Amino acid sequence: MNPDLNLLQPYPFEKLNQLKAGITPKTNAAHIALSIGEPKHSPPAFVLEKLAAELGRVSNYAATKGLTELRESISSWACQRFQLKALDAQTAILPVNGTREAIFAFTQACIDRSASSAKVLMPNPFYQIYEGAAKLAGAEPVFLNCLEQNAFIPDFDSIDEKTWRDCQLLFLCSPGNPTGAVLSSDTLKKLIALADKYDFIIASDECYSELYFDENKAPTGLLQACAELGRDDYQRCVVFHSLSKRSNLPGLRSGFIAGDSELIQQFLLYRTYHGCAMPVHTQLASIAAWNDEKHVLANRELYRQKFAAVCQTLNGVLEVKQPPASFYLWPKTPIDEQEFARRLYQEQNVTVLPGSYLARQADGLNPGCGYVRMALVATLEECIDAAERICQFTRSL
Ligand SMILES: Cc1ncc(COP(=O)(O)O)c(C=O)c1O
Repeated sequence: MNPDLNLLQPYPFEKLNQLKAGITPKTNAAHIALSIGEPKHSPPAFVLEKLAAELGRVSNYAATKGLTELRESISSWACQRFQLKALDAQTAILPVNGTREAIFAFTQACIDRSASSAKVLMPNPFYQIYEGAAKLAGAEPVFLNCLEQNAFIPDFDSIDEKTWRDCQLLFLCSPGNPTGAVLSSDTLKKLIALADKYDFIIASDECYSELYFDENKAPTGLLQACAELGRDDYQRCVVFHSLSKRSNLPGLRSGFIAGDSELIQQFLLYRTYHGCAMPVHTQLASIAAWNDEKHVLANRELYRQKFAAVCQTLNGVLEVKQPPASFYLWPKTPIDEQEFARRLYQEQNVTVLPGSYLARQADGLNPGCGYVRMALVATLEECIDAAERICQFTRSL
């Protein structure tokens, strides 16, 4: 077997299971999991109906490039959402089976292993796939701490020249998991200039882009920043989007990658061999989802209600700020975050994820220490119940 498999870290949920092992909660109150980022709002009925209606398409092999109609509806959605002049449905877009596989596969396709010091830069804390993908592609992950004093945005100005020269791929996550931080258009433009100067690719994971709270402040995307620069070929830039959070369809496994046509066409070649075409019925259901915004507005409204209620309950008890986007809260813990998570489970049967499990030691610290991640994915009632139990527990410390 590939010895690099030994470089992979245990997934945060394995660590969480170990932390909770052998503990029996002291309360009979039902368990509430704020630990897993799985959307729980109802998926749009019309998408499920389309999926059921098209199930007969399992008798067809799907093309890796996907149906023209799907790429066209993605192109219309992206052009409208990010004010793009054009996004070529023929060459600049590929359907993917969720962004998780696409982020992993894209990294394998784009790293040049012949460079002895290939580096992949990523935020810290981070979505765990970035690190594993970098290591299995033969590159070294470089962790960019996201600290409160910088509004949880990496300090890109502090990165040295040698690191930029070795950088082959820069992962961005905006809105961020777990902090909800959003990169500004100016920061994106600065990074595009650096990508040109040092010849690297920017992969922007934007799978939370539709979960924002102010209807007048939709997060800027990387392609939007390119378009504002008049860079309509999106050179060196790709974005990842998903129906999992936008449309509450995590099990559909549907998303897309879009951007620089040259990169997308090379990635298509990779995917043809990798064998990961999206099933035709999934593609047809996805078209229905991308063509509708009404359900996305309703989805945002549900999160808005939950964040308002939970932040109001936690206010004055835990140090927490509502982020501009995503479905996560990232509060500071008054005690060690693992201890907080373990004892909260024991006392109140509520599970949160210790922030340190989502981050690595870099520049002398683990930036997830002293934080927990709470995913507000359960119902409004459950989220309020969980917040009240968290308050009761925190006050008892
Ligand atoms: C930051 C981030 N990127 C990507 C994904 C993968 O989502 P999916 O594969 O469902 O599109 C997740 C899932 O939780 C995530 O949090």
